[in-house]
Amino acid sequence: MKRDVAIVGAGYVGVPLAQVLADAGKSVVLVDVDEPRVEQLNRGESYVEDVSSEELGRLVEAGLISATTDYDVLRDVGTIVIALPTPLSRQREPDLGIVVRAAGEIAKRLHRGHLVVLESTTYPGTTREQLLPVLEAGSGLRAGGDFHLAFSPERVDPGRTDWTTKTVPKVVGGIDAESTEAAAAFYASAMDSVHRVSSPEAAELTKLLENIFRSVNIALVNELAQLCDRMGIDVWEVVDAAATKPFGFMSFKPGPGLGGHCIPIDPFYLTWKAREYGFYTEFIELAGKVNESMPYFCRSVVSQALNHHSQKSLKGSRILVLGVAYKPDIADTRESPALKLISLLQNAGADVQYHDPHVPSFDEHGLSMASVELAPAAYDCVVVVTNHSGIDYDGLVADAALVVDLRNATGDEGRASDKVWKL
Ligand SMILES: NC(=O)c1ccc[n+]([C@@H]2O[C@H](COP(=O)([O-])OP(=O)(O)OC[C@H]3O[C@@H](n4cnc5c(N)ncnc54)[C@H](O)[C@@H]3O)[C@@H](O)[C@H]2O)c1
Repeated sequence: MKRDVAIVGAGYVGVPLAQVLADAGKSVVLVDVDEPRVEQLNRGESYVEDVSSEELGRLVEAGLISATTDYDVLRDVGTIVIALPTPLSRQREPDLGIVVRAAGEIAKRLHRGHLVVLESTTYPGTTREQLLPVLEAGSGLRAGGDFHLAFSPERVDPGRTDWTTKTVPKVVGGIDAESTEAAAAFYASAMDSVHRVSSPEAAELTKLLENIFRSVNIALVNELAQLCDRMGIDVWEVVDAAATKPFGFMSFKPGPGLGGHCIPIDPFYLTWKAREYGFYTEFIELAGKVNESMPYFCRSVVSQALNHHSQKSLKGSRILVLGVAYKPDIADTRESPALKLISLLQNAGADVQYHDPHVPSFDEHGLSMASVELAPAAYDCVVVVTNHSGIDYDGLVADAALVVDLRNATGDEGRASDKVWKL
């Protein structure tokens, strides 16, 4: 069966992209090595929050979306999009193994006229230095002349509804002008707008700049939060006040550290590549250092709060962590600072439970835990780590013996209460 597009990697990026393309009338096949995922998709069941099962089911029913583990489907499509993971190794170096191995499989099925686009986040040079040679060697074809090759970063923020895969402008950069135009035309047929850059390297670095910008600015405000703690100034009040300036300031909020599998990881792709040029990306390193120190700082805030408010030590205290997802209203715990903080509190001898309406249980970071009922009065301290909506924070302040609020979730109520300690 002929389809328009194949997306290799049916995850947080691949599935929403399939939906947008299918909504524009294209037939899409998702290729993934995970058989249960493939079966789930073919039953119209979504495991990605930004795509409802209702919506996916409708598109599967209409024959516009299907999934398979068989790379041979690539032979019959016009465009191949790669949306595979690009993690860091244990030594915190880029691990392109998954992308490069998949490229070898793609190369065996490549034919003249194919458009191949890499969407995975990576360092500048990946498309030209890593992907291109594997595709050419495995296919016997020439990039540019025989097939088009481009990079186009995925810039979606999962869980966000004001800007989506369809509406965030799509940056594209091909290995030559024809590749750029082919990729731009492909995305323009389904997305609201396309921004062309002159090379895949520029497109690759664009994505890293966006995430480094966030990491550095979060680190700046986290450092300020630590100083404010010493000076007795409410950092949230300062950030809110600065945000009233109509120009030249962008508001970033402090917190217990970075989470998710983008902001804590992506900047180090550039750090690694920069070393090849004898260059040290000091902003990235410094931001990483400050952000990684935040769970330790937050542990000391909990310890101080118990000590001064309740005359208790961390050791032996019963603590409820409220929210373990890395950001509000999602179920994703990857790299969540909550897990680091739970470990630190446990290591200090605290008895720690958690409540998260989105995460019934998790098994990672050496922890295996299940969400307990939200019963604030049963604990010496409740630590708000993720500010999910739908939680009665006023009720929490009323019922709990002590609240440490790392997200300003308790707002003015918390500010007015002597049993709420804020970051
Ligand atoms: N999640 C996000 O919000 C987001 C946003 C922007 C960019 N990105 C980037 O996009 C890329 C993909 O991220 P994701 O969040 O979609 O990852 P993911 O882990 O959600 O999904 C990846 C999928 O690829 C599959 N897979 C692994 N090896 C495979 C192989 N050899 N062949 C076929 N399928 C294979 C996995 O089973 C999984 O379903 C990463 O580079 C990421 O940094 C992610």
